[in-house]
Amino acid sequence: MADQPDVMEAGPLTAGQVACLAAYVTAVVLWAWSEWLNYRLKHSKKAQSHAHSEASGADAEGKPLLPLGGTHVDVEASSVNGAPGSPAPAELGKPSYAWTSSAFYRCLMLDEEALLACREALRSAVEFGTILAWFYVADRTSLIAPGTKSYTRDTFLFIFLVLTIVAGSYTLKQHRSLLLHRTQTEEWKGWMQVLFLLYHYFNAKEIYNAIRVFIAAYVWMTGFGNFSYYYRTADFGIGRFCQMMWRLNFLVLFCCLALNNSYMLYYICPMHTLFTVMVYVALALGARYNKSDLAIWLKIAACFLAVFIFWDLKFVFYALWTPFMFLMGYSDPRRPASDHLYEWHFRSSLDRYIWIYGMICAFMHPKIEKFLQAVDAMETKRRRVTRAVLIAFWAGVGYAWYHYVYLLPKIEYNKVHPYTSWIPITVFFMLRNLTPPMRSFSMGLYGWLGCITLETYIGQFHTWLLSKRPDGQPIYLLTLLPGYPLLNFALVTGLYVALSHRLFQTTSTLKDAVVPHDDNRLLLRNLLMMCMVAGVAGCFGFLMVEARKMVAP
Ligand SMILES: *[C@@H]1O[C@H](CO)[C@@H](O)[C@H](O)[C@H]1NC(C)=O
Repeated sequence: MADQPDVMEAGPLTAGQVACLAAYVTAVVLWAWSEWLNYRLKHSKKAQSHAHSEASGADAEGKPLLPLGGTHVDVEASSVNGAPGSPAPAELGKPSYAWTSSAFYRCLMLDEEALLACREALRSAVEFGTILAWFYVADRTSLIAPGTKSYTRDTFLFIFLVLTIVAGSYTLKQHRSLLLHRTQTEEWKGWMQVLFLLYHYFNAKEIYNAIRVFIAAYVWMTGFGNFSYYYRTADFGIGRFCQMMWRLNFLVLFCCLALNNSYMLYYICPMHTLFTVMVYVALALGARYNKSDLAIWLKIAACFLAVFIFWDLKFVFYALWTPFMFLMGYSDPRRPASDHLYEWHFRSSLDRYIWIYGMICAFMHPKIEKFLQAVDAMETKRRRVTRAVLIAFWAGVGYAWYHYVYLLPKIEYNKVHPYTSWIPITVFFMLRNLTPPMRSFSMGLYGWLGCITLETYIGQFHTWLLSKRPDGQPIYLLTLLPGYPLLNFALVTGLYVALSHRLFQTTSTLKDAVVPHDDNRLLLRNLLMMCMVAGVAGCFGFLMVEARKMVAP
């Protein structure tokens, strides 16, 4: 339709972008330095083993150099296992919590030992920054012309079907036969994510309502997974909590800075962050009562009440979030709205109750599992009849939901969604877990995709689809092969999934390097240092922007 794409010129860099650029350049320099040191070290080692001479310029101080973890370990493998070869920079500072002994500070001071030890982390930082730089080039410059979306049901379903056949034929995995085993929830996330992404790519408006259910299912899993974890382990450690926050928000933070976007453009991130925090708070407050079933039910009731007060009473929601407008405000530049909290209210309201239902399901999990096992143990004829009855029951419930709820038009559907999304979710997981083989098999390919849903969600905005202006919705397609929509789809999808996977890996490497799991003092120190670095980088960016304005007003 629109021949003239609504593209905004990139314009001068913002303070945030200058700060990111400065950080990126610093990381590149430090990383190159550490690679060079490593290269020199390897060579001197070789020379040593040849000539038995122990004098070497690189470690003249006589200090043993830190183990570099197998110079032959390939980068891919070592970062998959949380980089055992590269001691986390934080580890270097163990004997002392002084800032000057931190690996970060020592790297900046070009301390060779620290640089060598941080090589892996520095490499991750550079890779992460390079991918973001690519996002900027693809989505903010005129280098790549945007393509437009078009939908044919045939292509859409074909792609999903082919992928599912491959996943189901070649990547089946077996694990213990448990209700909603982790590999199964990952698989579930994976295929929903594929449909969710294809829905964006092809603008498949006709499955809008199904997409709403998928997003509800993610939020349900947030409640389910986190409740199970905290209830089972009672591990409320602040280190682990911070690691989770890092995982959820590190990439999105840098996308916002580097691309000058609002946090709310990626609304899935604030939503999951908030609901994750709420599950944590629900279980961590008065954790010593968690052993009592009554206390858990009271906590769940309190969650319902809290949601009712903070969402259903709209004025409370607005009063609470207006001070955070800078963070939660959003307005689509192509359709400016006057109410900048509307988006946050709309998105978070749709799934405001389903995470609590996820907690309930996690709490009831042992009972449901016992029931399923009781069915498994019945003698053949009774078992078949029972299962047939179960199938008929859930199929009936599912059909009723489909007929009375799913088929509603978008606006009406959204009105009932918060109160009905639990129905298809329950029907799905009850049918999916009916028999022991069904419980134990899952499709590895979808499980793999399910692990990187956050990255594919964020990445799609800038390297699969394109938004082509700050805060814009991703209404265009990344087009590297104009005139060949399907070939282009294959090419950019490969690129996009690979980059998403790398973003996942690098985020996790950096997380391990910066956020210690169980040393709160170190955690606090690193947190303060990060704030300081951010402050310095921010001031630098601000000054540069002001300077540029003075030079070229
Ligand atoms: C808690 O929820 C978040 C957000 O969905 C998720 O990333 C994280 O893996 C969950 N934690 C557990 C232990 O399941």
